[in-house]
Amino acid sequence: MMSDSVNTFRTSSCELPAEDREITTHNARLATRDVAYDALVLDGRLRQSLTTVRSLGSRGLRVAVMETSDSSGVPAFSSRWCQQRFVCPANEGTEAYFTYLEQLLDRTDARVLITSSDATIALIRRHREQLERRVRIALAKEPALSTAINKEQMLAIARQLGVAVPRTVTVGAASDVGAALHEIGLPAVVKPVESWGWNGQQGSRIVPQLVVTPDEARRAVEDLTRFGGTVLFQEFLSGRRESLSLFSASGEVYARFAFWGKRTYPLLGGIYVLRQAIAFPLDTGEQAERLVREIGLEGYAQVEFRRDGAGKPYLMEINPRLNMAIAHAVSAGVDFPYLLYRWASGEQIDRVKSYRTGGWMRHLNGDIRATAAAVRQRGRPGVPPPARAIRDFCLSFFTPMKYDYVDWVDPLPAWKATKGFLTHHLGRLQGRRRTV
Ligand SMILES: Nc1ncnc2c1ncn2[C@@H]1O[C@H](COP(=O)(O)OP(=O)(O)O)[C@@H](O)[C@H]1O
Ligand SMILES: [Mg+2]
Repeated sequence: MMSDSVNTFRTSSCELPAEDREITTHNARLATRDVAYDALVLDGRLRQSLTTVRSLGSRGLRVAVMETSDSSGVPAFSSRWCQQRFVCPANEGTEAYFTYLEQLLDRTDARVLITSSDATIALIRRHREQLERRVRIALAKEPALSTAINKEQMLAIARQLGVAVPRTVTVGAASDVGAALHEIGLPAVVKPVESWGWNGQQGSRIVPQLVVTPDEARRAVEDLTRFGGTVLFQEFLSGRRESLSLFSASGEVYARFAFWGKRTYPLLGGIYVLRQAIAFPLDTGEQAERLVREIGLEGYAQVEFRRDGAGKPYLMEINPRLNMAIAHAVSAGVDFPYLLYRWASGEQIDRVKSYRTGGWMRHLNGDIRATAAAVRQRGRPGVPPPARAIRDFCLSFFTPMKYDYVDWVDPLPAWKATKGFLTHHLGRLQGRRRTV
């Protein structure tokens, strides 16, 4: 049954690479056995999906994973706890993806759906009611979810609650930049109201941009408003970045975790490539809980702050979805994916009272890129001088720390991720040599 629908779907959409065909065959065997899964994890390529598979699988739950391609290696597919891999031939976030997902849910009878990319969350929000007839969705409810995603709304609520936010003006076109520069000054940060844009056919992730000259400011605004809409023009804050993770249900916080991000890639607005678990900060901790309670956000949420040069914290945004922060939290003793699974299943959840602080975690691939970017972008605000960037990068090898993907009990995903990284970079090098 499964093999028929998956195969028909595939052949009508695209020509399959060899390894995908193998997975389809694998699925065919599943169909005849009619297995039910405790959880179906979407976005298998993401690190948070791997953490989720490991967390649920090691507790004896049956986990299946879905992704749109296996060609560059999907770490979660190789986890010893991934019971089944599904490769959807349609692009992430499209209606064809949704059709495939519905068919999959009908045939696998998964209990909880766990999703974490902007694209799949946007798709699920569009079809939520229909999906909820088939599966429990491990995601906050509307309207709290849409409020949290929208930075303009979130910043307005924060202001009302007395939570500091960066000085911000909303800009609709390059012609407004003069007034914004007058109000905010330079350097400044230009960022979209929502980081995920969808034009009806496809979506894209838009990252904040640092601008240091009026010309850069104009170009950034032109770039971010080319599909319409408005962008936020903010003062640049140069201090410490803090990420606070909370798990809330019925107005109560069940678990907390925090880290500070020492390095990010891209250098502004990127993922945290080197981070350290810290005690839950009193000031930002209280503010984060106030915000989450005010909007009625349930489940997992990451609240991001950045401090100014004097140490005063300002709200950046709230991410109401699983993200890379959870790997660090799990290693420090806060199992967010499991809490999320229990909550979505309607089961009782236990409070997590404490966690281990001080532990470092690193995304090596990202840290290599961050160091190279620091050399390229020397002299820009917040970028360390090249010699210091290289020294700090090397010194980090002498600090005991965990590395993203690495788990000696489940070694294959780290190998897959490394292979994917090397294939990508060697391919680019070869391509460059050929064009020389
Ligand atoms: N005004 C700002 N000043 C300094 N850094 C900023 C500013 N805005 C964003 N950043 C940096 O960029 C990161 C990403 O910005 P954020 O607002 O969270 O957007 P995104 O949706 O892209 O994650 C922040 O966590 C922060 O480190
Ligand atoms: Mg962010």
